[in-house]
Amino acid sequence: MIFSDVVIIGAGAAGLMAAATAGYRGRTVTVVDMGKKPGRKILISGGGRCNFTNENAKAENYLCHNPHFAKSALSRYSAQDFIDLVDRHGLNYHHKTLGQLFCDHGAQDIVDILLTECEWAGVNIALRSEVLSVNKNATGYEVITSNERYQCESLVVASGGLTMPKLGASPIGYKIAEQFGLNVLPTMAALVPFTLHEHDKQRFDGLSGISIATEVSSEDGTRFKENILFTHRGLSGPAILQISSFWRSGQAVTINLLPETPITELIRQWRELHGQKSLKNMLSTVLPKRFIDSLIKHKHISDKTLNQISNDDVSYLGQYLHQWQIKPNGTEGYRTAEVTLGGVDTDELSSKTFEAKKAQGLYFIGEVIDVTGWLGGYNFQFAWSSGVACGQAV
Ligand code: FDA
Repeated sequence: MIFSDVVIIGAGAAGLMAAATAGYRGRTVTVVDMGKKPGRKILISGGGRCNFTNENAKAENYLCHNPHFAKSALSRYSAQDFIDLVDRHGLNYHHKTLGQLFCDHGAQDIVDILLTECEWAGVNIALRSEVLSVNKNATGYEVITSNERYQCESLVVASGGLTMPKLGASPIGYKIAEQFGLNVLPTMAALVPFTLHEHDKQRFDGLSGISIATEVSSEDGTRFKENILFTHRGLSGPAILQISSFWRSGQAVTINLLPETPITELIRQWRELHGQKSLKNMLSTVLPKRFIDSLIKHKHISDKTLNQISNDDVSYLGQYLHQWQIKPNGTEGYRTAEVTLGGVDTDELSSKTFEAKKAQGLYFIGEVIDVTGWLGGYNFQFAWSSGVACGQAV
């Protein structure tokens, strides 16, 4: 039996951050993880460059049953606090778009920073240690792993969500929550590509690789202005990943294919100035040619010269291109999703310390709880913020 003031389940972003914070306070901390490396999701994040925060992160950028829950942690450890930390370690990074910060070299730099912090704070990390069960006893919690037993005063569950099972995702966090009588909200894959019905698959055959700057909206009115990407499996790209968190089975998504171009006015101008030219060629100046060819091939747009186009045709084209509708068949699911929507109900937790209201000494942080960020560094920022808030309390 190993005694440690604090045991943390999960050597991911939230767990390592909480560990270093608690270690600096003089607590003995052990992090257990079933993986053979710490921070495996960090390593594959942001295309290998880890979008480690978003300068604009606010509670509004998160989906949560209680929209105010993330406010306290985000304000006490903000994006700027994490930027200060990486600056102290001399990390080279760059701004991409919409407040997103990425490593110049690779995501390993972020893992190295967290491991250095853990080392300085005296944290013990036990890898290849799968947590099998947890029990409450008179002095705190007993944690049984595949190769050791631990006794701790404070137990932190930072076991993440269900995405990417091959990287060690497991439902252990939800099981522990339920064991201690905490409500767990239904989970769903989010920030995930859409799959398509057979008729749409055939229609988009050959468009794989095409990216279009759009504004995508869901039936609840949420909108994102970013790119969509046709893939051989369906639809992806940042706008699709974003809207997938708001989409529910059976609903349609509306895609404005030309959010910056009032197409009806433009077509009227083309008709006056270039009446002999084909609609197809002119539309190919504002949208990818292969995409326009496909709309014509499948008779969604007719191949006319501009002077053959009536005012009704112009209205139809405006409606069609600004409000293009797709009804996804589903999503690619946890296999490729970036995050898990839902999880441990935040009503069960203190927003200051992340301690369970019904179980003293038991804490939940990071993705295992019902706080899901938009795409763009928000999820890591919540992992850092919740990790620090909990690390200061355990
Ligand atoms: P995380 O999942 O990181 O860690 C949980 C740990 O618990 C794992 O190491 C796991 O092995 C361990 N564990 C689980 N069950 C266990 C058990 N029974 N016993 C022992 N250990 C156990 N976000 C962002 O902000 N910017 C980005 O660029 C990206 N990019 C990105 C790309 C891809 C492909 C994915 C899948 C995800 C992202 N994300 C992201 C999301 C981000 O990776 C995610 O939100 C955080 O890693 C969550 O951190 P946690 O520490 O909560 O869980």
